[in-house]
Amino acid sequence: DFAAEKHRPLYGKHVLVTAGPTHEPIDPVRYIANRSSGKQGFAIAAAAAQAGARVTLVAGPVQLETPAGVDRFDVESAREMLAAVEAALPADVAVMVAAVADWRAADLAEQKIKKDSSGEVPPLALAENPDILATLAKSPQRPGLLIGFAAETENVVAHATAKRARKGADWIVANDVSGDVMGGDANTVHIVTAVGSEDWPAMPKAQVARALIERIGQEIETGN
Ligand code: CTP
Ligand code: CA
Repeated sequence: DFAAEKHRPLYGKHVLVTAGPTHEPIDPVRYIANRSSGKQGFAIAAAAAQAGARVTLVAGPVQLETPAGVDRFDVESAREMLAAVEAALPADVAVMVAAVADWRAADLAEQKIKKDSSGEVPPLALAENPDILATLAKSPQRPGLLIGFAAETENVVAHATAKRARKGADWIVANDVSGDVMGGDANTVHIVTAVGSEDWPAMPKAQVARALIERIGQEIETGN
């Protein structure tokens, strides 16, 4: 019925969301990580499910409950996240909220690295991780609406505009992290599209999620 449809703007759509950090192992007991809490990505997955979508959530290591109606796949590293994302295709919409580690340890030590009695410090060589968003952008199964997130501390819209072009995303949700955002509950975002930037006021992450899902519904319905 009309009222139900109006409140389920993503009915029949498959929405793929990545969330959280990745952990990149150094040896069996150590890893490289970042401060992403996963809260914004989980809130977007929850809002998409509430909007009627089938939702696949690929989550890095986080301590969060799976939102109602969401299919969740847990991963650790960037390479595992890429594989899970590719396995989830096709998708109508992909929202890449994960704070994917840019680098991993070039070599994974099979045993715990031990301190050297001479005080010699072990070198940590890094290798670049695959860019999941850029890979999706070039995929034959590219989602119809491909959205990246970018946490920036300065020149937020300018950096996000460059990132949008470089990665081949349709939108970049630019996240101003100059304040205390990571791990917190509020967010100030700018939606950078092909035609410019939509500046949203600071709001709780759950509200950013609902507004973004509404904006996605509008895009799908009207094409802008
Ligand atoms: N991203 C990704 N795979 C990576 C790195 C980033 O899919 N290896 C995605 C993120 O999920 C996000 C977007 O790309 O949607 C932007 O991430 P960001 O870290 O801001 O971009 P980078 O190109 O890594 O630039 P920076 O040097 O600012 O970290
Ligand atoms: Ca990065």
